[in-house]
Amino acid sequence: MTFNSSNLPEHIAIIMDGNGRWAQKRHMPRTVGHAKGAAGVRSLVEFCAKQGIPYLTLFAFSTENWKRPEDEVSTLMGLFVQYLEKEMESLAAAGVRLKVIGDISAFPAELQARIQSTEEATAHNHAITLTVAANYGGQWDIVQAVKNWQQANPSLHVSQLSQDALAQHLSTEGMPDVDLLIRTGGEQRISNFLLWQSAYAELYFSDALWPEFDEAEISKALHWYKTRERRFGKVSH
Ligand code: IPE
Ligand code: IPE
Ligand code: MG
Repeated sequence: MTFNSSNLPEHIAIIMDGNGRWAQKRHMPRTVGHAKGAAGVRSLVEFCAKQGIPYLTLFAFSTENWKRPEDEVSTLMGLFVQYLEKEMESLAAAGVRLKVIGDISAFPAELQARIQSTEEATAHNHAITLTVAANYGGQWDIVQAVKNWQQANPSLHVSQLSQDALAQHLSTEGMPDVDLLIRTGGEQRISNFLLWQSAYAELYFSDALWPEFDEAEISKALHWYKTRERRFGKVSH
C-alpha cells in the first residue's frame, strides 16, 4: 500500500512501548520482549522509507529508564550495540541515515564510539533519517539547548533568547517538528519524549504492544493521520 505524499507526515516519532507486557503475557522474561521489539524495527524503517517519510524518530531509552533493574538496562544497552552492528549494515545499504539524540555521555565509551562511527558512515544517505532517542528526555533536551545557546552566545543575556534560537540548539536541530506522534502499548502519555518538538503533533495511541506493531498497524496510523485537520491555531478552512 502507498500513500499520497501530500497527506504524509514529514516526521513520525514513536514511543515504542509494551515490550515487557508482550513477554509477560507469554510467560517469558521482559528482556525477550525487548529483543522481539528491536527485531521488528528494521522492517518498519524500510516501510517508512518506501512510503517517502523523510524522518522517523524512535524512543529507545528514556532518562528515567535507568530506574529499571540493572539486568534489564544492560539488555537494552546490549540490544542497542547489536542493532548498530547488525541491522545498521542493511539499513545503511537501503539509504538510511542514522542519528542518535540524548545524553550519550552516560554510555560505555565503546557504544559512544560505535554511535559516532555509524552516524558518520551514514551521514550522506538520503532515503530516510532514522533518529534513535537514547538516554533522551524532553526536559533534558530543553535544558541542554539553553546551556548550548549560552555557550554559543556568551555576550548575550538570557532575555535575548528567542524560540527560534532555542530550537537551533535542540538535539533535533535541522529536523521538522513532529507531525505524527505514535505511542504503542495502550498508555496515553508522552513520558518526557519530544516535548518541544511535538507542540503541534497529532497524537495516535495504539493498543498494540510494540512487538506487534507491524506494517498493517502503522498503515492504520497513517490513514488516521490523513483524516486530521491540522489548524495550528488558525480557524478551519
Ligand atoms: C519498551 O517497553 C520501552 C522501553 C523502555 C524500551 P516497556 O519495557 O516499557 O514495556 P512495558 O510497558 O513494561 O510493557
Ligand atoms: C517510554 O516508555 C520510554 C520508551 C519507550 C523508551 P516507558 O514504559 O518508560 O514509560 P512509562 O514509565 O510507562 O511512562
Ligand atoms: Mg512501558
